[in-house]
Amino acid sequence: MTADPFALTGRVAVVTGAGAGIGRAIARGLARHGADVAACDIDEGGLSATVAQIEALGRRGLGVRCDVGQAAEIARLFAETDRVLGRVDILINNVGHTARSAPEHQRLEDWNAVLATGVTASFLCAQEAGRRMIAAGRGGSIVNISSIAGVLALGRGNLVHSVNKGALNQFTRELAVEWAKHRIRVNAILPCQVLTEGFQTWLDSPGFDPALMARFLTGIPMNRLAVAEDMVGPAVFLASDAAAMVTGTLLPVDGGNLALNAGGSHTWT
Ligand SMILES: NC(=O)c1ccc[n+]([C@@H]2O[C@H](COP(=O)([O-])OP(=O)(O)OC[C@H]3O[C@@H](n4cnc5c(N)ncnc54)[C@H](O)[C@@H]3O)[C@@H](O)[C@H]2O)c1
Repeated sequence: MTADPFALTGRVAVVTGAGAGIGRAIARGLARHGADVAACDIDEGGLSATVAQIEALGRRGLGVRCDVGQAAEIARLFAETDRVLGRVDILINNVGHTARSAPEHQRLEDWNAVLATGVTASFLCAQEAGRRMIAAGRGGSIVNISSIAGVLALGRGNLVHSVNKGALNQFTRELAVEWAKHRIRVNAILPCQVLTEGFQTWLDSPGFDPALMARFLTGIPMNRLAVAEDMVGPAVFLASDAAAMVTGTLLPVDGGNLALNAGGSHTWT
């Protein structure tokens, strides 16, 4: 263990969906703690901006245009990481889509797309990263960006989103058990609503009911939405040796949302 157990110096992280939002904030946070970062995204503009931010922190940044819904593109992401950065110690599985719909009208293609870019892509990335970590014999850390929706139901058309995140939670636990013998730790972060670019697009869309904002806050004892930077400390901790004995956990980063009973309140007089 290094003198500073949170230090990531000399490590290489792969972060999916790093061109914006939570992925970008975590990529930057890992670099701030010393890691070199391979950032993947489908948005080349966002990707270049993230890589520039990593390099401004004095770390090596690699941007790979990669759609994690395509297995061949995931294979190319890791081949490029091997070629340019030479190793993989940390994987952040961050891409996750929703396709809101009443269950009775949910389209099969949307259902399949959410699972393909979510739990299936996370599995494929973990397989690529895990094979390298096992071969190198140095252990590693995989962090899956899940959601409070993976634990309790949200309603409001979130069926496939919740199913995807629930599957990601079980994926986290099973993989943690399987790969503990290789000192590969696997954990998940469960955010509440986070004010990211993607979330803001939804807030600004005609389909968003403004009354929902108050509803979100009713469920969050900290009485604010999260911001992407709120995910960074937990991700750095889970990626680092400070979490050497932490595996298979689902860590809510939710301002107390999952602690609150649906019939409870965090304001009263
Ligand atoms: N924002 C929230 O309220 C919230 C809450 C709980 C969980 N989460 C989870 O956090 C993760 C990130 O969410 P966010 O709000 O930061 O998203 P975002 O939309 O702000 O950013 C997502 C990034 O991923 C990229 N991306 C999308 N599809 C991709 C693909 N197929 N391959 C590669 N890159 C792709 C986008 O181009 C974008 O840069 C998701 O898994 C989401 O489910 C978000």
